[in-house]
Amino acid sequence: MTPSDVDSRQLGGQVIREVVFDRDTVRKRVRQLAHEITEAYTAEDRLLVLGLLKGSFIFMSDLVREIQLPLHVDFLVASSYGKGKVSSGDVRLLYDASTSFAGRAVLLVEDIVDSGLTLERLLPRLNARGPTSLEVCTLLHKRVRKMVPEPRWVGFDAPNHFLVGYGLDYAEDFRHLPYIASL
Ligand code: IMP
Ligand code: MG
Repeated sequence: MTPSDVDSRQLGGQVIREVVFDRDTVRKRVRQLAHEITEAYTAEDRLLVLGLLKGSFIFMSDLVREIQLPLHVDFLVASSYGKGKVSSGDVRLLYDASTSFAGRAVLLVEDIVDSGLTLERLLPRLNARGPTSLEVCTLLHKRVRKMVPEPRWVGFDAPNHFLVGYGLDYAEDFRHLPYIASL
């Protein structure tokens, strides 16, 4: 699919470079991830799927609908970017989850790992709340740096371009696109 195939009204006159993962490719991969997650946990784990907003909102909603286990959902809003394209590494929690992590397996759902700084800062803070386990499922991973530990589930290795769509934004634009594109 090329940008010219995309509904230009949805882009509001803005330009994307190319569609990197189209709708169908994303749908299939999300289904596979949900299947793997279903196999990895049991009902006794009391799974809590924790979405990191705003970027994960579409991925998260598609993912949980394919997981065949009882689960709860909650969200965090962390901010590290402001209006730019480069992570500041200064992760602030603008909204915190209200669910207790005690006795629960927590699965943090992230849209994209770039520098890895957001997760590096966030994971120790979440672990300190005493979940029985804490794993990460990210839709995209740019593999810029080696992370310890690496996310347990990765949807796609991503090119080192700025990506938008399917929840990902550039200055709040493009989140609603049903595919993932580069700028
Ligand atoms: P990191 O801290 O550099 O790993 O960046 C993580 C966060 O930055 C992600 O949760 C995204 O919200 C945002 N981000 C990183 N790369 C991109 C991108 O290519 N497009 C849109 N957002 C991005
Ligand atoms: Mg973002």
